[in-house]
Amino acid sequence: MADLSINFAGIKAPNPFWLASAPPTNSGYQIMKAYEAGWGGAVWKTLGMPTINVSSRYGATNYRDTRMAGFSNIELISDRPLEDNLREMREVTKRFPNHATIASLMVDTRQEWNDIIKMVEDAGAAGIELNFGCPHGMCERGMGSAVGQDPVVLKTIVEWVMDAASIPVITKLSPNISHITDPGMAAVEAKTDAISLINTVKSIVGIDLDTYAPYPVVDGKGTNGGYCGPAVKPIALHMLKELKQHPQIKDTPVSGIGGIETWRDVVEYILLGATSVQVCTAAMHYGFGIVREMEAGLRKFMDERGYQTIYDFAGKALPNVTEWKHLNLEYSVKAKINEDKCVGCDLCYIACDDGAHQAIALPQEGQGRIPSIIEENCVGCNLCSLVCPVEGCITMERKDDGSKHRTWDERTQADNIPNTWNDDRAGGKGHYVPEPALALENKRKDRSKW
Ligand SMILES: Cc1cc2nc3c(=O)[nH]c(=O)nc-3n(C[C@H](O)[C@H](O)[C@H](O)COP(=O)(O)O)c2cc1C
Ligand code: SF4
Ligand code: SF4
Repeated sequence: MADLSINFAGIKAPNPFWLASAPPTNSGYQIMKAYEAGWGGAVWKTLGMPTINVSSRYGATNYRDTRMAGFSNIELISDRPLEDNLREMREVTKRFPNHATIASLMVDTRQEWNDIIKMVEDAGAAGIELNFGCPHGMCERGMGSAVGQDPVVLKTIVEWVMDAASIPVITKLSPNISHITDPGMAAVEAKTDAISLINTVKSIVGIDLDTYAPYPVVDGKGTNGGYCGPAVKPIALHMLKELKQHPQIKDTPVSGIGGIETWRDVVEYILLGATSVQVCTAAMHYGFGIVREMEAGLRKFMDERGYQTIYDFAGKALPNVTEWKHLNLEYSVKAKINEDKCVGCDLCYIACDDGAHQAIALPQEGQGRIPSIIEENCVGCNLCSLVCPVEGCITMERKDDGSKHRTWDERTQADNIPNTWNDDRAGGKGHYVPEPALALENKRKDRSKW
């Protein structure tokens, strides 16, 4: 049976499922309740400079039937008195000594860092996380993402913290930057024990059409918020991969954060090299109980593949993430419609005709409702299979025999890449596209028949 316990940069936990620093970790009660539900760790809602919060604070992208596909907040760090937080932290760490109770911190001067580090160490914190990510409010005061966006300042503060701390330090990075490896490298040079990412993405989720103010509206005005939830997972996965493939950063443990909701999300993060994960939005949306599905799913995945610990498969996807120039140009797939599954909705036809390569034909009159693929036109882009509402109805079938492997890089080295405007070696040369005016006219005639 799989052993889910971890030792993350010296922080031990019964499993890799941690709550991220946010409202679900605002109090000792919530964290103890979460531990009883099965979470292995929790990063306490950030402690530091005194704040006042506004109401309202949250906004969301409700995409079609999915509520909170993306979530936004303009909340600051903890507005509770530090002494209350520390008292509760002491209680939590005493009662759950084997869980990873981590103190997230954000202060300003070196003296403040020294003081607050001592206080959370005395309260029994297993580690410290540095919040260099908050992209609203605190950054206007020179903290949060203002630090995360400036590798020089970030490095200086991490050095101060490493000098003062006697427990492991996790540097939490902001995604609001062009190259995540810049702050990643700064943190590593300052000898951080670990990195976590991502904090929230600077964003505006929408505009209220009555008040013309951005959501969440605060007395007729709004400000940029921090975006998170399922919508940001692809951004986070990419940034994780960037760190894990960087020669000087890759050996630093990373705690993955962003849009994690199910065991599958957890496995994907681990496959890209994360060795703990943190969850905020999903816990706010569905409550602490989601950890049960995560644990059962992760165990099943590991047992089925014979993995004893998460370290047996951590980073296993990294060798498969390469640069575009190393992809096999000879590999060829084409769409195939399963006629038994097709419901004749025509969504694939519309998508391919308007948005891709005119490679799907509608049935002739009296020939039923099922469209067909025009193989010679299909470039294997996947669009139809992505829009088809029936799971597994359009599949992509391999057409090359697998004997040839030729990449852009190899072609460049062989001096065999298209390099003039009308080069015969370019990919689209000779590929079918309709004669513009004639095809439009034919389409009009077809429509008039219906
Ligand atoms: C309402 C709210 C408050 C947050 N407060 C903090 C905070 O105090 N400190 C911090 O480091 N991150 C904070 N975060 C960011 C989360 O810890 C996390 O990095 C982010 O939400 C991405 O994870 P998710 O997609 O699971 O929500 C907050 C997020 C939300 C939604
Ligand atoms: S894979 Fe792309 S080109 Fe081929 S049929 Fe589907 S949408 Fe059209
Ligand atoms: S989108 Fe799928 S279900 Fe709809 S017509 Fe195309 S193949 Fe059939």
